[in-house]
Amino acid sequence: MNRINILDSQNFTNQEYYVDLIKAENDRFETLTGKKKSYLITTFGCQMNEHDSENLSGIMQDMGYIEADSQEEADIIVYNTCAVRENAEDRFFGNIGALKNLKKQNPDKILATCGCMMQQDEVVDEILAKYRHVDLIFGTHNIYKFPELLYTYISQEDKKTVSDVWKIDGDVIEGLPSIRRYDFKSFVNIMYGCNNFCTYCIVPYTRGRERSRLPKDIIKEIELLAKSGVKEITLLGQNVNSYGNNFEEKYTFPMLLKDIDKIDGIQRVRFMTSHPKDISIELIDSFVELNKLCESLHLPVQSGSNSILQKMNRNYTRQDYLKKIEAIKSKVPDIALTTDIIVGFPGETDQDFKDTLDLVKQVEYDLAFTFLYSPRPGTKAAVMTDQVPEEVKKERFNQLLETVNEIAARKNKAYLGKIEEVLVEGLSKNNDQILSGRNRKNKLINFAGDKSKIGQIVNVKITATKSFSLDGVEVD
Ligand code: SAH
Ligand code: SF4
Ligand code: F3S
Repeated sequence: MNRINILDSQNFTNQEYYVDLIKAENDRFETLTGKKKSYLITTFGCQMNEHDSENLSGIMQDMGYIEADSQEEADIIVYNTCAVRENAEDRFFGNIGALKNLKKQNPDKILATCGCMMQQDEVVDEILAKYRHVDLIFGTHNIYKFPELLYTYISQEDKKTVSDVWKIDGDVIEGLPSIRRYDFKSFVNIMYGCNNFCTYCIVPYTRGRERSRLPKDIIKEIELLAKSGVKEITLLGQNVNSYGNNFEEKYTFPMLLKDIDKIDGIQRVRFMTSHPKDISIELIDSFVELNKLCESLHLPVQSGSNSILQKMNRNYTRQDYLKKIEAIKSKVPDIALTTDIIVGFPGETDQDFKDTLDLVKQVEYDLAFTFLYSPRPGTKAAVMTDQVPEEVKKERFNQLLETVNEIAARKNKAYLGKIEEVLVEGLSKNNDQILSGRNRKNKLINFAGDKSKIGQIVNVKITATKSFSLDGVEVD
């Protein structure tokens, strides 16, 4: 765990009043009982949410809370939610339903829910009606106000639920504290929100319109991260290619990449996600020109059928997409390509699906994240009348998965015998005698080695390959 405070915090400062009040209260509690108050955050969804949770952790720790090992132990339980597919929502409701008893046994326990689901009125209404043991509700635009909301809740006599969800886009808030999961790699938000309104997607409704952080704030944050020992950064945005569109002076995403490349200490730069319609020649050239930019690109295609792409409002055709892939492959032949694909979008015919399979075979993705289409209330696609039956969706999904996995396994075989530069991230999930890390192409690599190597970049010779990972031995 590494903590970092961004210097010159501007907008978080008005919360520091509440941070101090709660901290004083928690310090008093510790003096009386010898115990520290604690919190536990459960995070669903994408890297944006993970990063928001890192900020929430930072705020919690500034207020004097420590991280708890379990929900039973925690004084504050936070659920940071995702609304992108129905199963994420179901899991959330299942989880908070199960906390009813815990709250009954210990009414002082505080249960907070935040994140993308809270931006939907129906969800908040349902929580207020059926999950009355939830104490605090806030959204994606006012996370930084957590100290004030918590203080409002704590100071009430009758402990009513405090709910504060903003419909307008929040300002870009600088200066939030953050507790990062890793000491050697870090997410860095470069922009918030999305303007694309793909017809299946809830994100523009939960995260608002596109807002870019100022280059100087981003650079300052990365310089600080580098000084604290971070070697790899991943720049985050729903569509990083439109970074800077709201600036008066021209400053594009490739320009930002160029400035970040100059920062000493940072050795690897990644980004996600970029929208295929906005991939520019300048961006492709960045992979050639910038040493630190890793040779991997996540370029969600969603479908290989033109009529489905049009109904999805993706603003590119299959041909446009393939042309861009060709341009990338011709300039960066060894680039690792990954994608997202939705199966069973309304109106998808067997032929549409075949077009997707065919595109997957043509591009030969290193990895593809495949999703069953999930209707999201409030989106255009949810009210389209030609929804695909569940069994058809599932059958296509399995067929796609088989194709995607077969290609992934084949692409990984090409690594056999090669020496790869691995940033060691930790112990392997399945075996604590084995270290795991990633090469520049973001491939997961496992090898035997000492824990002291975590956070370092080492050379590993690949000795065996699987669909989703590579095995190897460390070499000099
Ligand atoms: N901004 C990113 C994606 C964010 S959501 C982008 O445009 O690439 C991550 C992925 O979830 C999407 O790429 C899409 O494949 C999937 N997804 C989004 N909405 C979905 C839905 N309603 N049903 C199924 N999958 C969905
Ligand atoms: Fe959703 Fe499309 Fe925006 Fe990505 S670009 S977040 S898929 S609306
Ligand atoms: Fe991310 Fe889920 Fe929100 S994918 S932006 S946490 S809806």
